[in-house]
Amino acid sequence: MIPDVDCDSIVYLNGDYVRLGDAKISVLDRGFIFGDGIYDVVPAYNGKPFRMDGHLARLERSLAAIDIKVDLKRSDWEQLVNDLIKRSGLGDCMVYVQVSRGVAKRDHAFPKDTKPTVFCMVTPFTRPGAAAREQGLSTVGMTDIRWLRCEIKSVSLLGNVLAKQYAVDAGVDEVLQFRDGYLSEGSSCNIWVVKDGVLLAPPRSNLILEGIRYGLLEELAAEAGIAFNARPISQQEAESADELMLSSATKEILPITTHNGKPVGTGKPGKVYAALRAGYDKAIAAL
Ligand code: PDD
Repeated sequence: MIPDVDCDSIVYLNGDYVRLGDAKISVLDRGFIFGDGIYDVVPAYNGKPFRMDGHLARLERSLAAIDIKVDLKRSDWEQLVNDLIKRSGLGDCMVYVQVSRGVAKRDHAFPKDTKPTVFCMVTPFTRPGAAAREQGLSTVGMTDIRWLRCEIKSVSLLGNVLAKQYAVDAGVDEVLQFRDGYLSEGSSCNIWVVKDGVLLAPPRSNLILEGIRYGLLEELAAEAGIAFNARPISQQEAESADELMLSSATKEILPITTHNGKPVGTGKPGKVYAALRAGYDKAIAAL
């Protein structure tokens, strides 16, 4: 028994569909030993994956970035994600996909001829509720201590884990991480800043994970006639923003209304948030 985990749910492991409670991998798996693997999280609404193409393209980029070769084509991944959702019988859910470099004698260098470990599971997803949408979230600032390849969706997440725990210990919902005085991202989400009606985000680079919602919010801003600018954002600018928001597969888009114990702008979700949220809900409804 693992608290809050449905061990009877069906997962995919290396070609087989098995009960989560029966899915086993070797202690020598390099994902376990070195954090040598990548992952992605695809949200689905009413049983239909949302922006799956973007998620699978990022999965393939992450695999290529660390030179893991899997004999699954794009269409195989699509089928796998759809199959798992169907088997789960879930409506709103998250599909977690992980690939590690596989099982080998412990040695830092890449092993030769090792088959990657492929694991997928589906978990129920409860969309952010009225409290988060209407009252907003709280954040604190902290130094970004992570490595310099944050664009890879790596399972080596110790920096992100410590960042999230920093938020929990501070009694807030999330962190805003800063590297050399400039905003990077949250522990597991992208951060958005509004100043004088313009939507700002740190540029796509090795310093952030480009969320699938990054491109989506760019599109939604254009549709709503909101100017968007991707550029470095100083800590001072983030701290004096008119609005702050975060985005991720699990949080969708949510307003941040308190930062470092002070109200952000008016202390209430702002107009730009409201426009992007309306666009996001419309995109989901159109699935
Ligand atoms: N995290 N930045 C980081 C560090 C993330 O871990 C995530 C997502 C994002 C947002 O990406 P997207 O919009 O594609 O969800 C940004 C997922 C949800 C996770 O680790 O569970």
